[in-house]
Amino acid sequence: PVADTPLKSIASTPVGACLQRHQLDDPAFAALLTRHYSQITAEWEMKMEYILQDDGRFRFDRPDAIADFARRHGLRLHGHALIWYSQVMPAFRALDGQGKRFADAYRNYILAVAGRYRGLAASWDVINEAVDDNGVDLRRSAWTDNLGVDEHMILAFHHAKEADPDAVLFINDYNLENNPTKRATFLRMVERLLKAGAPIGGIGTQSHLGLDFTPPGMCRIALRDLASLGLPIHVSELDISFGDKPETAPLPKLLSRQADLARELAQAYMDLPRAQRFAFTVWGVRDRDSWLRGANGERPWEHPLPLDDAGQPKPMFQALAE
Ligand code: XIL
Repeated sequence: PVADTPLKSIASTPVGACLQRHQLDDPAFAALLTRHYSQITAEWEMKMEYILQDDGRFRFDRPDAIADFARRHGLRLHGHALIWYSQVMPAFRALDGQGKRFADAYRNYILAVAGRYRGLAASWDVINEAVDDNGVDLRRSAWTDNLGVDEHMILAFHHAKEADPDAVLFINDYNLENNPTKRATFLRMVERLLKAGAPIGGIGTQSHLGLDFTPPGMCRIALRDLASLGLPIHVSELDISFGDKPETAPLPKLLSRQADLARELAQAYMDLPRAQRFAFTVWGVRDRDSWLRGANGERPWEHPLPLDDAGQPKPMFQALAE
C-alpha cells in the first residue's frame, strides 16, 4: 500500500541520502533524490581529499554546488567529513612534526570549511572513524601523531564550534552494530571527550550492514546502547551488502532478508525518543549508485539500497516505509 510514496512524507524524522555532484546532472537521479529525501550528504566532495589541494589551496566548486542544490530544494545539508584518519593530504604531510604550524593549519582547515557552510550545513561529521577495526584501540594517524589521540578530536570539535556555533557536531563511525567491542570502545571515547569539554552534539552510526555479518537483533541492541548517552543519533550511511560472493541464495530471498534488517534498524531508530532522532540516511539513491558495486562495477550482485537500478522501490524500501 505504501509503494513509491515519498519516504520523506511518511517519516517523522529527516531522511537523507548521499550524492555526488555529477549525479545532479541526471534529471532522473535528481527527481528521485528530491522526491524521497529531505537531507543530503556529499558522498566525497566535502572531504579533505577533494577540498585541500596539494599546494594548500582550497577547492570549493563542487561542495558549493552541492550546498546550493540543498538550499534551492529546501533540503537539509549534512557536512561530511572534516577529520578522517584515511585522508591526510600532502599539504598536511609537509607540516609533519612542525608543532604549531601543523596545529595552525588544522584549525585553519576546519574554520575555512565549516565556516564556509555556516548557516547552510545543519550538521557536520567532525571526526570520522576514530576507532580501530580491532575494536579496542583508537587509530593512529598524522592527526594523532601531531596533535594527540584524544586531543586532536577535542580540538576539532572546538574549531568546528568556533566556525559554526549552530551546527550539530557529530562523531561518526562504522561497525558499531556488528562489533559490540568496538561499540563499547567508541562510547567510552565519546564519554571521555565530552568530559574534556568537546562540544559533541551527536553520534553517527554509519550502518554499513551485511547479510553475512549483521545477525538479526544486533541493530536494536546497538541503537539502544548508542542512545544511552542521551545524544541525538544519526543513522548516517545505511546500506546492506549481500556479501563477497554472488548468488548465495535466490534474489527474492536475499531481498527479503535485507528488508528484515532494514526494518529492524528503522524500527529501533523510530523507537528512540524524538529528541534523539537526528536523521536516517542511506548511502546512495539507486542500487547502481552504490559504492559497494565497486569503482568499475566489479560487484554486480550487490543491491544495497532501498531503490533498484531503475529507481523503483524494493522490499527494503517497503520495510523502511512501514
Ligand atoms: C566512500 C564513498 O562512498 C566512496 O565513493 C569514496 O570513494 C570513499 O568513501 N565511510 C564513510 C564514507 O564515512 O565517507 C565512505 O564513503 C564509506 C565508508
